[in-house]
Amino acid sequence: MVPSANERTAELFHSLCPKVKSYDIIPVSMTKVSPSVLSADFSRLGEELRRVEYAGADWVHIDVMDGMFVPNITIGPSVVQSLRSLSKIPFDVHLMIEDPVRYVEAFSKAGADMITVHAESKGDIMAAVRKIRSFGRSPGISINPGTPFSAAEEYMGDVDLILIMTVQPGFGGQAFREDCVPKISQARRYVDENNLSTEIVIDGGINRRTGKTCVDAGATVLAAGSSLFNSEDMKSEITLWKSFCSKPADNSRKD
Ligand code: DX5
Ligand code: ZN
Repeated sequence: MVPSANERTAELFHSLCPKVKSYDIIPVSMTKVSPSVLSADFSRLGEELRRVEYAGADWVHIDVMDGMFVPNITIGPSVVQSLRSLSKIPFDVHLMIEDPVRYVEAFSKAGADMITVHAESKGDIMAAVRKIRSFGRSPGISINPGTPFSAAEEYMGDVDLILIMTVQPGFGGQAFREDCVPKISQARRYVDENNLSTEIVIDGGINRRTGKTCVDAGATVLAAGSSLFNSEDMKSEITLWKSFCSKPADNSRKD
């Protein structure tokens, strides 16, 4: 007999967390999942958005690249606006662009709910963060694999999310950088010690194994493109990821 999606989810969960009984974890949905439409079929973006919603995603991750900050070019505010009319799911817009303050208004008006800028981008990043807030949107700060957490610290009191890149930004389908995991724990400790409620978003090379590693280190949101869009059943994959529960920071570690 072919197992149902729920049975497959339970099997997957047991292989990752053998000590936890499924009835203990199914009602708990601690981890948020934000599928990245960078891996969607761009010729049918509207249908892909509905697929993501049907699969139970919490947010939709929209990667914006300018060919300057990163070597790739993707989408602009008009595409975000077109998608906005199709869905109410929160749009998590990741700006991989130089001088992002120039485009904050356009993406806010296009319907972005969260707008994340990079600490490494040229321009006044704090001004961009504050401008995002002034438009009633949630600001986020992102750091590349080679950037220490300390580069994000000055923004932590002003943002609602920190997005930790676990690949070099620019392209989907790259391998997860395990060396970034201590930075996730560091962010978790900072958030807990400062009584913040900042979401800790991880982006790049996330699959069910690396996603679990990130949540164990303190991540609250998993952004992923290729592993979700290429999965056999996006819904059961997302259900599995959402069942991962983050634990409090391990304050004994000093990495
Ligand atoms: C990479 C983007 C990611 C990308 C992730 O620069 O920021 O959001 O879509 O793709 P995967 O999950 O395939 O690594
Ligand atoms: Zn991204």
